Amino acid sequence: MTARLTEEQLDEILQRDFTSSFRRGYVKVKGFTMPKRFEELQDEIHNWDVRNEDIWICSFPKTGTTWTQEMIWMIVNNLDFDGGQVNLGIRSPFLEVSALYDFRQLKKDIPDFEVPPFLDDSLKFVKDRCKIGPQCIKSHLPWDLLPRELQASIKSPKIIYVTRNPKDTCISYFNHSRLMEGYRGDFNDFCELFLAEKLTYTPYWSHLLSFWQRRNQKNILFLKYEDMNKDLPAVIREVADFLEKPLSDEQVSILADHLSFENMKKNPAVNYEMVISINKKFKLTESDGKFMRSGKVGDYKANMSPEMIKIFDEWSEENLKDNDFSF
Ligand code: A3P
Repeated sequence: MTARLTEEQLDEILQRDFTSSFRRGYVKVKGFTMPKRFEELQDEIHNWDVRNEDIWICSFPKTGTTWTQEMIWMIVNNLDFDGGQVNLGIRSPFLEVSALYDFRQLKKDIPDFEVPPFLDDSLKFVKDRCKIGPQCIKSHLPWDLLPRELQASIKSPKIIYVTRNPKDTCISYFNHSRLMEGYRGDFNDFCELFLAEKLTYTPYWSHLLSFWQRRNQKNILFLKYEDMNKDLPAVIREVADFLEKPLSDEQVSILADHLSFENMKKNPAVNYEMVISINKKFKLTESDGKFMRSGKVGDYKANMSPEMIKIFDEWSEENLKDNDFSF
């Protein structure tokens, strides 16, 4: 373990710097940190009625999930740009999001606190969406917390996992936590929380490796943010082939344009504006940032101290020493 703060100090940062208005502490579930409310959802997720026709988009937070969701939804829906104006949270629902945002107390305390259904009771929301037809389900859960039928291959829907190098993931998670999860601390403390496995969905490497080890399963496709950044059309083709929805060259180029950082940044359906506006309206955030922040590879260099970069690199090396994974 590389973090240099004591458990007490880390817990103090967690208590002090994360708003408690929609999160009442954390628990470890099968080795992963989850907000306490996850315990209430866990059994229902474990026993989820998995269907072969759905697509599961899995990832650690901030690794390009939204980008991948938009790509997949567009491929599956024959580039339906009109239909794509509907909020992505509805088109590609986030299974366990209600565990991250427990608004029950706020709803009692603040009479006009309105929460959209996909946030309020996400399991019910996904179930209801499934009645309409096949879904592109988003989840940040590690392999071991996914539904039993998925883990045991009783059902084999297509699963696409996307990952991103941990240093960029961490700076992106920091900004996300400031904007959407009420974090008020600095980046260095955030790095310590990340490394010490105190943040939701950590440990990062166990998460990634739990899918990497299964990448050869026929129903699993493993993607990297860095590859999407380098050659988006190639990744679009790979995903379209995996989904058995091959696209023409012209369609690939139209979709790549739609998925460019500049266009995603302008697209209100994929910017979580509803969640951000709730956070702003009820003063759950002090940040003025944007969901689509930098969209770059290597952005950590502008923010992470040389000491912290070294710590991250050693930590990564240690975690990868028995694996054939690399970025
Ligand atoms: P940054 O904060 O580094 O900018 P997730 O969807 O998993 O939360 O990941 C969000 C990250 O993906 C953000 O990273 C966001 O800017 C980036 N992202 C989203 N769409 C993108 C695109 N079209 N091109 C490049 N990066 C994109």
